[in-house]
Amino acid sequence: MVRTVFVNGEYLPESEGKISIFDRGFLFADGVYEVSAVINGKLVDYAAHMERLGRSLKELRMAWPCTRDELDVMHAELIKRNALTEGIIYMQVTRGAADRTFNFPKGEVTPTLIAFTQAMSLVSNPNAVTGIKVITTPDLRWARRDIKTVMLLAPALGKQEAYEKGAQEAWMVEDGFVTEGTSSNAYIVKDGKVITRHLSNEILAGCTRRALMRLAKEEGVEIIERKFTVEEALAADEAFLTSASQFVMPIVEIDGKRIGGGQPGPVVRKLRELFLKEATA
Ligand code: PDD
Repeated sequence: MVRTVFVNGEYLPESEGKISIFDRGFLFADGVYEVSAVINGKLVDYAAHMERLGRSLKELRMAWPCTRDELDVMHAELIKRNALTEGIIYMQVTRGAADRTFNFPKGEVTPTLIAFTQAMSLVSNPNAVTGIKVITTPDLRWARRDIKTVMLLAPALGKQEAYEKGAQEAWMVEDGFVTEGTSSNAYIVKDGKVITRHLSNEILAGCTRRALMRLAKEEGVEIIERKFTVEEALAADEAFLTSASQFVMPIVEIDGKRIGGGQPGPVVRKLRELFLKEATA
C-alpha cells in the first residue's frame, strides 16, 4: 500500500509530496512540529499536542497554516487513508517559502503544512519488557527548548552517539544536570518517588509527561519536579523516559551502569500500565 501524505491541502502518494527549495524550514529550520501517537486508529493526547503547537507558533510569531478543525480533519483523513491502526502522525508547519533573508520575509507568505503517518508498534514495543539503555552527552541545543522546532541537529547527533554505543537514547546534560532525552523527557525514581526536571525554557513540555503527571497524582505516586544530576541518576532505583512514540519506557542502563538490577522496576511498570490503560480505553 502506497503511503498517502498531506502537503499544503492535498493528499498525495508519498513520492509526489514535494516542497520548495526556498522553504524556510529547509533553509533556517524556521518551523515547528508535533508527533501524535495513534492506537487502535485513535489519536492519543491529541488536544495537548494541538495546544502545544499553538504555543510554538505563537512564540515564533508564525501564522496557523489553517484552522484547528482543518487540522483535525487532516489527522483523521491520514489515519483513514493509510489504514493506520498503530503508529504516529508527524506534522510540520514552517513559515513558508520566500527569498532567502534572515529576517522574516516581507509581505504575505503562505505557511507550509505537511504531515505523514508512520506505522509502529507502540503498545507491544519489546523494549518496554526489557528496558532500554541510555548514554549521557552534553546538551548542545539553544536556549528555547520549550518550543518544538524542527532544529534537531543536536538531538540527532546525540541519538546517533547513543546508537553507536549500543544504547537507544541519550540523556543530554548541562552543568552536571540532566535536561532531557534527545526526543523524550527524563525521570528517575528514588525511594518510591519520581523525580523529573521542572518545566522551563530548558526542556520541552512533553504531552506524555503532562498525562503521566495527572495519572500518577490520581494513583498517589509522588512526582517531584526538580533537576537531577547524572550521579543521582546512576544511584537511582529506577529510571525511565516518556514521549509520544515511546509512551513510558523503562531504562535499565545509564552510561553502561545497571539501574535497578538491570530490570524495569515496579514504579515504571505501574506508570506504563496506567498510561496504556487510558490510551487504549
Ligand atoms: N519528541 N523532549 C524532547 C526534546 C522531544 O523531542 C520530545 C518528543 C519530548 C516528549 O514530548 P511528548 O511527550 O509530547 O512526545 C521531550 C517527539 C516524539 C519526536 O521528536 O519524535
